[in-house]
Amino acid sequence: MKVIVTGGCGFIGSNLVDRLIKEGFETYVIDNLSTGKIEFLNPIAKFYQSDILDVQKMKSIFEDVKPNAVFHLAAQIDVQTSIHNPDLDAQINILGSINLIELCKTYKSKLIYSSSAAVYGTPLYLPVCEQHLIQPLSNYGISKVTPELYIRCYARLYNVKFTILRYSNVYGPRQMPKGEGGVISIFINKIINDETPAIFGDGQQTRDFIYVEDVVSANLSALKAEKNGTYNISTNKRISINELIKKINCILNKNIVPAYKQERIGDIDHSCLDNQLAKMELNWQPKYSIIEGITKTCQFNENIQ
Ligand SMILES: NC(=O)c1ccc[n+]([C@@H]2O[C@H](COP(=O)([O-])OP(=O)(O)OC[C@H]3O[C@@H](n4cnc5c(N)ncnc54)[C@H](O)[C@@H]3O)[C@@H](O)[C@H]2O)c1
Repeated sequence: MKVIVTGGCGFIGSNLVDRLIKEGFETYVIDNLSTGKIEFLNPIAKFYQSDILDVQKMKSIFEDVKPNAVFHLAAQIDVQTSIHNPDLDAQINILGSINLIELCKTYKSKLIYSSSAAVYGTPLYLPVCEQHLIQPLSNYGISKVTPELYIRCYARLYNVKFTILRYSNVYGPRQMPKGEGGVISIFINKIINDETPAIFGDGQQTRDFIYVEDVVSANLSALKAEKNGTYNISTNKRISINELIKKINCILNKNIVPAYKQERIGDIDHSCLDNQLAKMELNWQPKYSIIEGITKTCQFNENIQ
């Protein structure tokens, strides 16, 4: 089976590519290396260095590969960039995705789209299920949800097969210390180097974090799904930022005290996605506990220091 991974040199994409290759998929990667790294690329994957906005190049790649499925992860993922440069954010995340959706229509490829908890905005209740109000708090949330609407529309109009996966905060090896779920990576790097991590607010705010291998498994489960659907991908377990620091200190055998800073406007107090639907319909469930995930991430980050 031939699969294309856009953003396959990035944090989640490169971990996905490794698994796809391990499982015997003929795997092709499209990435412009804007945040991704060539050293993350699995050498067995066929690599096309291309921008998803380059329509002609994308067409010729699809004509070359004729993929059975496309995992679309390439995106502008920085919330601050989306706020300061909405045009760039919309071009990559919305127009870039439309290019992919069009190509999936032409080549009858199943589309597995990486979406985000950012589409929901401030939770009205916890855990947030897929039916929750869509009210993004940032341009990034808007640019991640808009392709969802196009995808569902293309499914109705042209029978494009799809799965949309809305991830909570993803963490694990190869995550850059920025972006959505970057906080674990930032804290680990600071604590390894005996530097003080900053916490905005009192640290009692909670989040649910999911280990990258569990997100990779969700993508593989989505590939097998018979029907189209939109699913939260999360652990459904919240942890406070203070508790997170405690666990990282404990794993690294350190005792670094964080610096508490003024809460940032727009930060959400508590967030957690309900993962019941994915468990039932995708036959998927997260396997890694937060301790296992952080331990693996610490080992990786220590080795690259
Ligand atoms: N990391 C998280 O916690 C998280 C949470 C929710 C959703 N997501 C989604 O998961 C996906 C992957 O995120 P990530 O954390 O691995 O980010 P990342 O920045 O590590 O990976 C994105 C990849 O896309 C590539 N890329 C960016 N713009 C491109 C373009 N115009 N053309 C071609 N390639 C381009 C980058 O070079 C990079 O390799 C994104 O769609 C993101 O919105 C991530």
